[in-house]
Amino acid sequence: MRIGVYAGTFDPITNGHLDIAKRAASLFDKVIIAVAEDNYKQPLFSIEERCDLIRTAIVEKNCGDNVVVDAFSGLLVDYCASQNACSIIRGLRAISDFDQEFQMALLNRSLKQGIDTVFLMSGSRYLFISSSIIRKSAMLGANVDDLVPPCVSKALQRKYHG
Ligand code: COA
Repeated sequence: MRIGVYAGTFDPITNGHLDIAKRAASLFDKVIIAVAEDNYKQPLFSIEERCDLIRTAIVEKNCGDNVVVDAFSGLLVDYCASQNACSIIRGLRAISDFDQEFQMALLNRSLKQGIDTVFLMSGSRYLFISSSIIRKSAMLGANVDDLVPPCVSKALQRKYHG
C-alpha cells in the first residue's frame, strides 16, 4: 500500500490545496492530509476547526475515498514513519516556493532515509492563492467563494463578520 502524507498548516484549506490532494489521491493508495498542530504560525483556526473544515471540504470537492485527515505534532518524518508512509507530498506554486521546499525536502531526507518528497505543480487557477491572502481578503470583506470550498467561506464569514 503506497501512502502519501500531504502536510501543512491549512489555516484554512484552499481550493489550491484541495486540487493537490485530489491529484495525489490518484497517485497513491491512501493520502493523509496531515495538519500541523504546533507551528511557528499563530493560526486563525484551531487544530480541531482546521481538521473539521478539511473533512467537510474533501467531501464537498469530491477528493476521493482514499483521502483522510489527521493532526500531527513533532517532526513530520516521524509522523510519516508512524503511518508507514513512503512519501511527503508538497504543492509548488511558483519558482519562489522552490528554495524553501528544496531545503525542507533535503532536511527531511537527511532526518529519515526512505521517505521521499513528491512535488505536484499547483493548478494554474490556483497559483496566486495562499491561506494568508485568503484570510486577509476575507477579513476585509472580499468574496472568496471561488478560492475556497463552501465550508471555509462560511467559517471565514463567521470568524470575521459574526
Ligand atoms: N495552494 C494554495 N496555497 C498553497 C499551496 C497550494 N497548492 N501550497 C502551499 N500553499 C501556501 C499555504 O497556504 C501557506 O500559505 P500561508 O503562508 O499564507 O499560510 C504557504 O503556502 C505554505 O504553507 P504550507 O504548504 O501549508 O506549509 P506550511 O509552511 O504551513 O507547513 C509543514 C509546513 C507543517 C509541513 C512543516 O513546517 C513541517 O513539516 N512541520 C513539522 C516540523 C518538522 O518536521 N520540521 C522539520 C521540517 S521543516
